[in-house]
Amino acid sequence: SPKSSSSYEIVTLTTWLLQQERTGAIDNEMTIVLASISTACKQIAALVQRAPISNLTGVQGAVNVQGEDQKKLDVVSNEVFSNCLKSSGRTGVIASEEEDVPVAVEQSYSGNYIVVFDPLDGSSNIDAAVSTGSIFGIYNPNDECLADVDDNDTLDSVEQRCIVNVCQPGSNLLAAGYCMYSSSVIFVLTVGTGVYVFTLDPMYGEFVLTQEKVQIPKAGKIYAFNEGNYALWDDKLKLYMDSLKEPGDSGKPYSARYIGSLVGDFHRTLLYGGIYGYPRDKKSKNGKLRLLYECAPMSFIVEQAGGKGSDGHQRILDITPTEIHQRVPLYIGSVEEVDKVEKFLA
Ligand code: AHG
Ligand code: MN
Ligand code: MN
Ligand code: MN
Repeated sequence: SPKSSSSYEIVTLTTWLLQQERTGAIDNEMTIVLASISTACKQIAALVQRAPISNLTGVQGAVNVQGEDQKKLDVVSNEVFSNCLKSSGRTGVIASEEEDVPVAVEQSYSGNYIVVFDPLDGSSNIDAAVSTGSIFGIYNPNDECLADVDDNDTLDSVEQRCIVNVCQPGSNLLAAGYCMYSSSVIFVLTVGTGVYVFTLDPMYGEFVLTQEKVQIPKAGKIYAFNEGNYALWDDKLKLYMDSLKEPGDSGKPYSARYIGSLVGDFHRTLLYGGIYGYPRDKKSKNGKLRLLYECAPMSFIVEQAGGKGSDGHQRILDITPTEIHQRVPLYIGSVEEVDKVEKFLA
């Protein structure tokens, strides 16, 4: 139910951001960036909900840097996200799943923050109207701030600086969040003071605070893996997966839940407990998910909720990307569940 700080006041994302600013958790530039991201998410929610009507289902006809057939909404949501961030005048560099390289916001409009994002996660689900989402993370610029770029800088030296600015470990994240486009439109955000959940009220188009300081259950008997890849997994992982199917003392094995959207599978894991995994396999040596704008932001959120994000051996937030679209295996969720898979993989 909506939270209010007094009997009559409903806390919206806007008022919550201003509260965080007053406590010093964020500065007013971050407030503007986060507000611009929430606007992008509202626009994408509207586009997703009407996709079949406005001919926005299906493929764009292009292949992105990931080698994926881009959906029309991959492209459109990337434009919506980029435009909202650029027009905020508070971002310096943006890196997207759908852009080959990071983009420096042009001088007159640039601010400091570095924003990484997956504009539409789970986009293979769009045509069937199954939950999708957007994921984002926000960093301070690295020492190599773009501010000292001058005209005699060659393009690739600016590009190089952008890559340096973007390739930071998730432990440097100042803020991370996602928006899930599902039966409700849910905006989940952390600025390092816990995990807050907002629900879009379609009556007046505002995100309303509905859960605060979410804590993920320490354990949970729900697992989300694409078992279609079982034959390609390491033997140790097969033993782990087999162990989940044994009834054990409780007489009940784990339940499988997998919808093919990281945002949807993660949000259920955050609230109900359990584990989401996208392991490496013989086909994809580093798994499928991208460190920068999927694994790191989700790991920051889960740790803020008392959970764990691992590549099977180390903390996701300790990994420094060496290239923008680098993939890593991901095991994320309840501490006891991630500990368990790490033991099998040791
Ligand atoms: P994206 O749509 O942003 O490319 O991400 C898709 C990811 C993730 O959302 C999901 O959990 C996973 O791909 C599903 O992959 P499989 O279809 O291989 O299971
Ligand atoms: Mn994709
Ligand atoms: Mn994704
Ligand atoms: Mn995507």
